[in-house]
Parts: sequence; C-alpha cells; structure tokens
Amino acid sequence: MKAELKKLKDRAEGALKGITSADELEAFRIKYLGRKGQLSELLARLPSVPAGERPETGRLLNQLKRDITAGFERVKKSLAGEPGTGAAAPVQDLTLPGRRPALGHRHPLMQTIDEIKDIFAQMGFKVAYGPEVELEYYNFEALNIPPDHPSRDDFDTFYVSGADDVLLRSQTSTVQIRVMENEEPPIRIIAPGKVFRPDTVDATHSFMFHQIEGLMVDEGVTFGHLKGVLKLFAQAYFGPDTQTRFCPSFFPFTEPSAEMEVSCSLCKGKGCATCGSGWIEILGAGMVDPNVFKAVGYDPEKYTGFAFGMGVERMAMLKYGVADIRFFFENDMRFLSQF
Ligand code: DAH
Repeated sequence: MKAELKKLKDRAEGALKGITSADELEAFRIKYLGRKGQLSELLARLPSVPAGERPETGRLLNQLKRDITAGFERVKKSLAGEPGTGAAAPVQDLTLPGRRPALGHRHPLMQTIDEIKDIFAQMGFKVAYGPEVELEYYNFEALNIPPDHPSRDDFDTFYVSGADDVLLRSQTSTVQIRVMENEEPPIRIIAPGKVFRPDTVDATHSFMFHQIEGLMVDEGVTFGHLKGVLKLFAQAYFGPDTQTRFCPSFFPFTEPSAEMEVSCSLCKGKGCATCGSGWIEILGAGMVDPNVFKAVGYDPEKYTGFAFGMGVERMAMLKYGVADIRFFFENDMRFLSQF
C-alpha cells in the first residue's frame, strides 16, 4: 500500500505539471480527488491493511490528499492569472480613490549636502570625494599637522587596529591633498563626506558626522576671494539678509586662519537664547599654508588658495532649528518625515 501511495503521489505531481487549461484541471480533479477518484479508491482499501500498519497508512493517505489538493489549488490560481483577474474574481469598484504608496525622500542631511553642493556649483566648484578609511599622512602630515600636535593623540582619532598609519578620517581636509596630488591648478572643489571622532555622544556631538570641505587654488587668489565666496554662500543658504563676519583663528593647514560667523536668523543678530551674542560660528577657513602646497608639489610662490570646512549636521540644525544631533541618526519617521 505504501508503495502505491508513493506511485500515486508521483503520478499526480507529474500530471499537474502538464496542465494548461481549466478543462485539463477539472479532469485532473475528477481523476485524483473525485468521489470515485484514485485517492478515494485507496482510502476504501484502508480496512484491508493489517491492523498494525493501519494508523500510519491512514496518516500518509491524509497527507497525500492534502498535498494533491494544494497542488490542484496552486495550478488553479496560476491559471486564473493575477489575483483578482480570474473569472471568479470579485468585481472591482473602479470609482474608489486610489491608494497612494508612501513615497520616501532623501535624508535631511543628504538634502543639506545637496543644497550646499548646488550653491557652490553655481560658483564653479565641482564635487570631489575621498576615502573614509585614510592614511595618517593625508589626515595629518600633508596638512601640516606635525606628529606632536594634540589632535594626533590616539584619543582624538579612531585608528584601525593592526596598522598604526591607518585611521578613520577625522576631517574632510584630506580630500584637499588627494585632489591636489592628482590635478594642477586652477582648482575649485567641495568635498562632502563622513568623518569620525571618538567623542562621547550628546546633543551636539556624535562619533560620526558629516563635513563639507572647500578648496580654491589658482594664481592670485586672495583673502578677498575667500570672503566673497563664503559670504555669497551664507546668504544663499541662510537668506539674503544674513550678515557675516570673520574672526581670527588657527588651523595648521591655513595661514592666516579665520572662523566665519553669521548673524542669527532667529533674532536677526539682536541676541537670543540660541545664539547668545547674535552671531553664530559656522565654519573654519583660511589661506592654504605654503607647507601644504609643498607637500603636494605646488610652487607656493606661484599659487595661492583658500580652504574652508563646515559641519553638515550643524548647518542643518541651525537652518531647521533642530536641537539635538541624535535626531539625525535615530531613524524616527516622526522626525524624518518633516523634511
Ligand atoms: N578640518 C577642520 C575641522 O575639522 C575644518 C577646517 C578649518 C577646514 C579650516 C578647512 C579650513 O579647510 O581651512 O575642524
């Protein structure tokens, strides 16, 4: 009996594969599943099976019936085509309004990067990228950051274990070097990307965040160009009434160095809880240090340039009034869908 069950199973499966029409399917149903079909026939012979084997044979028979029925249903569905188009499908009410699938959109940080890219693109800056896993040389040395500089300290940079000169870049200034190594002036690039620092996470710090670097190099580039380009940028990004001012600062790879501040867009520079003094620092900048030019083989007597770097999260937080950097990384749709 068991052998017959197995044979029936194989035959039914083979037959199902060849079915291409509703008529063939109905013939299959009658032959295998019908009241006088082959399954019923075997079932009728169950009492003649030795009593010891009967329960198991009964179970196998039931299983076979389920399998053949499932196969039958499957072929029936596929003959009917897509759900809802078969002859027995319910009539669709075509006057019902459609259901719009929820559309996603770019992450607010990516939107911010795109917006800043577009502003600089209008001033002729093209976009450059560099690796996130970097050599120490590009993150520090070539940028005129000597080995004893505090930011070289292991605690301020993620090093890749097993290699003491490989790290996760802590600034996008690395891309300045990579671009200048491969291209001759004139150069006008911005370089957006991720940077990494072992900071404790809080409302304004994250171990990973985004920066946008900028670099312009040519003969005769002055601090006046730096101020003009960055002022135009600030007014395009924060609004045409935005005031800018430059304060002296220090970065190893620029000389002189400055920080640019913009008038607070909330209080229009009068001073409020967000800005305190009416001014908000948004980026670091300066004239490219001659040592950086030497590292990439440019003649510092021939070329001058300016560079700048800003934090993307900070730019987005200031523009949209986001109070906590962690909102950007929690993937909470209640936050993200507002952008
Ligand atoms: N790399 C600096 C930082 O991470 C930002 C910066 C400052 C970039 C001045 C520059 C620059 O290109 O000129 O803090």
